[in-house]
Amino acid sequence: MSNRLEGIELLDYVLRVSRHMAESHALAPLLAYTIDKVLTLVGAERGYIVLKSSDGSIDFKIKRDSEGNDLPGATDEISYSILEQVVQTGESVVLSDAMHDPQFGMARSVMALRLRSIMCVPLITRNRTIGAIYVENRSVRGRFRESDLAPLQLFANQAAIAIENTELIENLKVANDHLTELDELKNNFIILVSHELKTPLTAVSTNAQLMNMIIERAGLQNDPMLSRTAANLDRATERMRHVIDEIVQFFRIASGQMELAFNEIRLREVIEPVVDSLTAVCEERHLTITVADFRGLPPVWADARKLKIVFQNIIGNAVKYTPDGGTIQVEAHHVQTNQIAVSVKDTGIGVPLEEQKRVFDMFHVLGSLSNHSTSKSAFRGGGFGLGLPIARGIVEAHGGTICLESRGYDEALLPGTVCTVALPCLVQESAMV
Ligand SMILES: Nc1ncnc2c1ncn2[C@@H]1O[C@H](COP(=O)(O)OP(=O)(O)O)[C@@H](O)[C@H]1O
Ligand SMILES: [Mg+2]
Repeated sequence: MSNRLEGIELLDYVLRVSRHMAESHALAPLLAYTIDKVLTLVGAERGYIVLKSSDGSIDFKIKRDSEGNDLPGATDEISYSILEQVVQTGESVVLSDAMHDPQFGMARSVMALRLRSIMCVPLITRNRTIGAIYVENRSVRGRFRESDLAPLQLFANQAAIAIENTELIENLKVANDHLTELDELKNNFIILVSHELKTPLTAVSTNAQLMNMIIERAGLQNDPMLSRTAANLDRATERMRHVIDEIVQFFRIASGQMELAFNEIRLREVIEPVVDSLTAVCEERHLTITVADFRGLPPVWADARKLKIVFQNIIGNAVKYTPDGGTIQVEAHHVQTNQIAVSVKDTGIGVPLEEQKRVFDMFHVLGSLSNHSTSKSAFRGGGFGLGLPIARGIVEAHGGTICLESRGYDEALLPGTVCTVALPCLVQESAMV
């Protein structure tokens, strides 16, 4: 292409080049592209791009000839006097005959290298000169004209913005990598601390059991104060174990460390024990809990222990957020041919529409810490807010989905909630019972 593009053609060229520059995400290819296009645009033999380092010194980023070859070790072959002036003042310089220029003609490099035509424009973005583009011709005098400056300046302006963008993107990447690393350290630290807490906790509960035995041996099991103390100790250690387990589960999922042991599993084998474990609470709170007949359903390919946690959480929530006297129904049906959907439907207080997605996000409960209480099964006994995020992590690791549906939150009308877990199932005839 000639260096004398004009009018619409020039505009079109500059536009195409600036669009390409704007799409660049990495500095090195951006600089190579820029210098090649600049050399073509102004018809120069050599081109350089320098950037100012943080200490103010000039850093040669690229040196190329018009054939697209990198120039090795050629930094001492250009006029530093010109480059430094442009970077310092932010003003362009065009010399059509450098050797006879009143200001630069005496510069050592200009004389020694017999430099002729030189053009140097600053790279300016947000009023800051971040470097310069320098092009030259040695053989030809009078190669560059003042009118070449405008398109080059336009290029330089676009390039400066694009260079700054790549720097920002690179900084963001570094910051992001750092944050990811910190996040992982934090997750591992929390998992480690939780495990450490379990050791003294085990000691406390073992000693509590021992104390119970001693009380029995001494025939004091009917002493009201002693039995209340023993029961409190039991409840407290159990609660603490549960909290620690939830934290470990949650951070394992968050850091991608959850291991699943897949097996062919029948859902009722997972759900029935969960429901059984809630019988006492349901009786106490006059809650009716029914489980549909699951026998006709095919098995799922899943980790039974992890799935149990899912149903402990969602059936536990149904119990927790349904006032005394309510009902909870656990049902399951085939969705398409390869999925089973289990729904847990309650007659409880419901979930506000705007919360229905958020409750699956980690730490959503932190927004409402003032309402925090820690009972596991009392009506509205709040928890850690980790139950549903854990359930979602486990369900998604099985290739399934989980969602909440409710007409909204209303403590008087009790609209109820349906929590549905859909899991891929094994499609095989032998699986039918
Ligand atoms: N069946 C339900 N009925 C009403 N609200 C529910 C139900 N299940 C979940 N929620 C709401 O979702 C929130 C998150 O549930 P979860 O993650 O299990 O935390 P937690 O039970 O520890 O509070 C609960 O605090 C509650 O507000
Ligand atoms: Mg819960």
